[in-house]
Amino acid sequence: METEQEIEKQREYIVKVKEINKNKKLKYSILTMGCQLNENDSEKICGMLEEMEYTKTEDQKEADVTVFNTCCVRENAEDKLFGKLGELKKIKEAKGTIIAIGGCMMQEKHITDKIKESYPYTDIIFGTHTLHKFPENLYKVLEEKRKQEDILDIEGKIYEGLPIKRDSKIKASVTIMNGCNNFCSYCIVPYVRGRERSRTPKAIIEEVKDLAKQGYKEITLLGQNVNSYLRAEKNKKTLELSILSEQKYKENEQANVKFEEYEGVNSFATLLKALNKIKGIERIRFVSPHPKDFTDDVIEAIATCDKVCKLVHLPLQSGNTKVLKEMNRKYTKEQYLNLVEKMKARIPNLTLSTDIIVGFPGETKEEFEDTLDVVRKVKFEQVYMFIYSRRVGTLGDNMENQIPDEIKHKRFDKLKTLVESQIEENNQKYVGTIQKVLVEGTSKNNEEMLTGRTDNNKVVIFEGDKNLIGKMIELKIVSEHMWYLKGNM
Ligand code: SAH
Ligand code: SF4
Ligand code: F3S
Repeated sequence: METEQEIEKQREYIVKVKEINKNKKLKYSILTMGCQLNENDSEKICGMLEEMEYTKTEDQKEADVTVFNTCCVRENAEDKLFGKLGELKKIKEAKGTIIAIGGCMMQEKHITDKIKESYPYTDIIFGTHTLHKFPENLYKVLEEKRKQEDILDIEGKIYEGLPIKRDSKIKASVTIMNGCNNFCSYCIVPYVRGRERSRTPKAIIEEVKDLAKQGYKEITLLGQNVNSYLRAEKNKKTLELSILSEQKYKENEQANVKFEEYEGVNSFATLLKALNKIKGIERIRFVSPHPKDFTDDVIEAIATCDKVCKLVHLPLQSGNTKVLKEMNRKYTKEQYLNLVEKMKARIPNLTLSTDIIVGFPGETKEEFEDTLDVVRKVKFEQVYMFIYSRRVGTLGDNMENQIPDEIKHKRFDKLKTLVESQIEENNQKYVGTIQKVLVEGTSKNNEEMLTGRTDNNKVVIFEGDKNLIGKMIELKIVSEHMWYLKGNM
C-alpha cells in the first residue's frame, strides 16, 4: 500500500535525523492550539521528535526545535500565533532555533502568505495532510539548509503507524476519523481538514487493545463527526459497484478505499460495542457526534455498553430553527429536543453537554431567546459557549446582517449567566452521592491533593495516597464549587 511505503520512507528519515543529532542532547518545545484532534496530532509530532533524539522542554528559550500546532476555528488564535512568532525572533537569532508551524491554520493561504512575508525566519510550514512528513521536512532543513513549505490541498489520506508520545498514561485519545463533509456555514474545519475519511476498524481495535495492554483505563474516540464513522467509505463502496468501471475506479485514487469489517465493526454503533469488550479499558468517551446522524443503533449502543460514559456531547449551536437552517445544521429546534427526549428515555442516567454559538449573522433577539429556551429545557451538564467569529471562505462570512460585537457580547453574557446558574444548581445534586472516579494525578493547584474525573467528566479533588493514581475508586462528594467537586475516600 502506498501509505505504508510513505511511512516506511519517513522512518528512514527519522533514522537519518537521529544520526545527525546523536549525543547532542537537543530539545524541543511544542505549543498546541485547538481541539482534541490537534492535541492527538501533537502527540504524534512529539513521538516523531523523541525518536529523532529530541527531549521535551516547556521553555521555548532552550528549545532547538519549536513547533506550533495551530487552530483556526475562531479568530483569536491568529493573534496568539503571530505574537508568539514575534517573541521567537530574538531567540532564533541567538540560538538558531528551528521553527515549524503546522496544523489547520496553515491550510489557509492568506495566513501562510503573511507568515512568509512577516516572519520569514520560519523554517517549516506544514499542513493537516502532511503531518506524517515531518521527519523528511526536518531532515531537509538540517542537512540542506532549505526552508520547507509542505501543504497539500487535497482530501488527505489516513497514515497508520506514526510514533506517538502520549500526554497521559491513564487516558488516551484515539482519532477514528478525519475531515468533515457537513459544511456548517460558520465553520472553517471542512476547508482545512478535507473530506471525511475513517480509519479501518482493525487499526482502531488494535490500537485500543494495545493501549489496554499498556495500562490505559480510559479512551476518547475523536472525529469531527464520529457518528458518521465509515459512512464515506461505505458510499465509496457503492460508488465502486454502481458508477465506475474498473479502469475509472483505479484511476480515481480517492475512491479506492477498501473498507473491511473487523470483529463485526461496520458503523459507529458496532465500533462502540467492539471496543466495550476490550479488557482493561474501563471508560469510553467520544467527541463529537452530530445530532442529525444520531441513529437508534448508536443510542442503543450507548445504553447497553457498560463502559461507554453516559455523558454525551450533543452540539446544539443554536436553539432556533431558522438560524439552524442558515447554519446548515439540518435539524430543527423540535428535532433536537425530540432527540434529547428519546435519548433520555432509552439511556438511564444520561446527561448532556453541548456547544453553542451566539451572534450568528441575522440572529434576532427573539431567535436568541430560543437558544436560552433549549438550554433551560435540556439542563446541560456542561455548555461550551462561543461568540460567532467570521472565517474567510465560509458562507457565514459573506452573509449580510453580521451582528455588532456589542450585541454578541451581551448575548454571550446572558447565556453565561443562565448556564452558570444551572451548573451551580446541578452540582448540588452531587453532594452526598458516591461517585466512581478515575484518579488522574496530583491537583495542579495543590500538590498535596489528588484529582480525578467522574463518569460525567466532573473534576473531583480529594486527599489520598499517590499510589491511587491510575485507579478507579469510589469517593463521597462532600462539597461543590463551580468548576470542581470535593470528595472524601
Ligand atoms: N465537529 C464538531 C465541532 C468542531 S469546532 C461539531 O460539529 O460539533 C468546535 C466548536 O467550535 C463548534 O461546535 C462550534 O460551536 C464552534 N465554532 C466553530 N466555528 C465557529 C465560528 N466560526 N465562530 C464561533 N464558534 C465556532
Ligand atoms: Fe464544523 Fe459542522 Fe463539521 Fe463540526 S460538523 S466540524 S461544526 S462543519
Ligand atoms: Fe481548530 Fe482544526 Fe480542531 S481548526 S478546532 S484544530 S480541527
